[in-house]
Amino acid sequence: MKLTVIGTGYLGATHAAAMAELGHDVLGIDVDISKVARLNAGEVPFFEPGLPELLQRNLAAGRLRFTTSYPEIGEFGEVHFICVGTPQKQGEFAADLTYVDGAVQALLAVLKAGSLVVGKSTVPAGTAARLAVDIEAAGADLVWNPEFLREGFAVEDTLRPDRIVMGVADDRAAKVMSEVYQQILETGTPLIVTDFATAELVKVAANSFLATKISFINAMAEICEHTGADVTQLAAALSHDERIGGKFLHAGLGFGGGCLPKDIRAFMARAEELGVDQAVKFLKEIDAINMRRRSRMVDLARELCNGSLAGMRVGVLGAAFKPNSDDIRDSPALDVAVAIQREGAAVRVYDPQAMANARDRFPMLAYSPSTIDACADADVVLHLTEWAEFRSMHPSVLDAVVRQRNIVDGRNALDRELWRAEGWVYRALGRQ
Ligand code: UDX
Repeated sequence: MKLTVIGTGYLGATHAAAMAELGHDVLGIDVDISKVARLNAGEVPFFEPGLPELLQRNLAAGRLRFTTSYPEIGEFGEVHFICVGTPQKQGEFAADLTYVDGAVQALLAVLKAGSLVVGKSTVPAGTAARLAVDIEAAGADLVWNPEFLREGFAVEDTLRPDRIVMGVADDRAAKVMSEVYQQILETGTPLIVTDFATAELVKVAANSFLATKISFINAMAEICEHTGADVTQLAAALSHDERIGGKFLHAGLGFGGGCLPKDIRAFMARAEELGVDQAVKFLKEIDAINMRRRSRMVDLARELCNGSLAGMRVGVLGAAFKPNSDDIRDSPALDVAVAIQREGAAVRVYDPQAMANARDRFPMLAYSPSTIDACADADVVLHLTEWAEFRSMHPSVLDAVVRQRNIVDGRNALDRELWRAEGWVYRALGRQ
């Protein structure tokens, strides 16, 4: 089939390459000329394991290319995926739909009658019904097909999703979509065909649930800190109950990234517009628990520096919001680094992949080319993003470079006994 993908960020670039991998002819579009040039040259403009190989393979096979021209995509295909971002609005909780609305308007100007528009962006409930009016007036159909991919596993999640959800207004749209995803569906992937509002809600409900699970265990971590209990052992014990399970029960610095924080906030804003704000008021507490972990991290660092961070040297390990990603949107690590610097400490940050993005967004922080350099003369080391290279590091690597052997493990991912045995003061969130 001939498909187009509008927007080539984490979602769109992965979706375009994955659809080509399934054997479709794919044309991606983005307004950013340099991004399009890099993608056409086989270069992924962000870090996503496995995506460069997928992109290069499909460019070489002639099934994939990228453009900046809307008339070209209108001409090229009859199924158009909307994969643009829906960030949080400046100064409010609601989602900014400028890019979705802009993409649909641009598409409408070139759309052939009989085409299918497929929304994948995360949007507030009610958006699809609103967009469908103009799309149907142009003789086309709309499907809402939310995406559940995790950064770092984007290729795997796109080619082998847990489920496919389609919000449709008629059977024809569902039939075309089943052809698009035929290969995936043939492997037994569950398919849920539903209405627009349910499809939109599945995505925000899923992200709200995940955020709630993380904040639940982080709330327990707060209790552990006041009772002497150990949240990692608590979580392990809870996880043996199959109804609870162990995933997303990892206590630490909490969630960040381009999805969870802004999606729960946009959900609260939309619920308020709908007059049902009571129903998701608990998400405000989920958000607050999450943000309190960041302050607690700063408190622990301050405690290890005898009550004041002023004049202290702090080595920060990690800038990305999670490992295997260079995404720094709402990164807890950088939030903590900035807060610590504001208290007068000299902070040096190192991350295996997110340095360029971090420098760009937080030019006021100092950056180091390596773990050793970031920790040189440090009074305290903060482990904030659990990259494998930090987890596997032996404490002796840092023994000679730091001023004081103090470490705060913000991700409960280091071997506490090992660090203590090597003479380090080890502190963590939710455990002694
Ligand atoms: C998330 C959803 O998982 C995905 O389905 C959706 O499509 C987009 O949002 P992503 O933002 O890539 O994906 O990251 P995810 O792996 O879910 O992690 C989110 C955040 O939660 C990270 O900051 C991570 O460090 C944190 N986290 C995760 C925890 O603090 N504890 C956990 O147990 C799990």
